[in-house]
Amino acid sequence: MTMQEAMRARHTVRRYTDRPIPGELQEALGQRIREHNEALGLTMNLVTDNTEAFGPLLRLVLAKGVRNYVVLAGRDAPGLGRSLGWAGADLMLFAQTLGLNSWWVGGTFRRKGLEKNAAPEAEKLLGLLALGYGATQGAPHKSKRAEEIAAYEGEPPEWFAKGVEAVLLAPTALNKQAFSIRGQGRRVSMTCQNGVFSGVDLGIGQYHFELGAGKENFDWA
Ligand SMILES: Cc1cc2nc3c(=O)[nH]c(=O)nc-3n(C[C@H](O)[C@H](O)[C@H](O)COP(=O)(O)O)c2cc1C
Repeated sequence: MTMQEAMRARHTVRRYTDRPIPGELQEALGQRIREHNEALGLTMNLVTDNTEAFGPLLRLVLAKGVRNYVVLAGRDAPGLGRSLGWAGADLMLFAQTLGLNSWWVGGTFRRKGLEKNAAPEAEKLLGLLALGYGATQGAPHKSKRAEEIAAYEGEPPEWFAKGVEAVLLAPTALNKQAFSIRGQGRRVSMTCQNGVFSGVDLGIGQYHFELGAGKENFDWA
């Protein structure tokens, strides 16, 4: 499965089976996490066979069987949300290509449990990325239409349409899809208004746009 195919196959999965993530997949994920940490100044880490990120009630009603996750964390600096969104989107799609399912959790987790499992150098925790073998593959989310989030000055080139289509497949907090994308020539600007999740959603959306449109076709304004 390519990363492009993974964009279509990925849906939020909140219930997982007991099947552990094999060692070689853990290593591949760990390697990718380290690369993002180094490139973007993040402090993410993979936690396996651990249920402490959720309290007993959440484990019972919402996060069934979540035992593996990435702590989404970094140094407390401007732009942290966007960097974590961009890197996290890559990790979700990479996990999908490895045959794993995922779930971005920005609110419904137990902070104390997550802090306990974060890297010592982590300053700010924005949530977690649950990973594993899902009880289901999830289902496509209800989506806005392209014209509700994007406009291009003049006739939109194919790469722009593909980029917008990819953004509409991205996960967003509360499925808000609060994006505004503007294109002119090779230049594309993108904003997102989703309260505390604006930065993270923007990073996720930008990753999807780059993957859909092809980085070589445009420049961020
Ligand atoms: C930044 C962010 C925070 C999220 N926080 C939560 C959460 O706290 N609890 C939850 O159940 N789902 C959470 N989600 C999952 C979204 O509800 C889900 O991605 C959205 O409904 C779109 O569905 P999809 O992922 O299947 O495309 C979050 C997603 C994102 C991107």
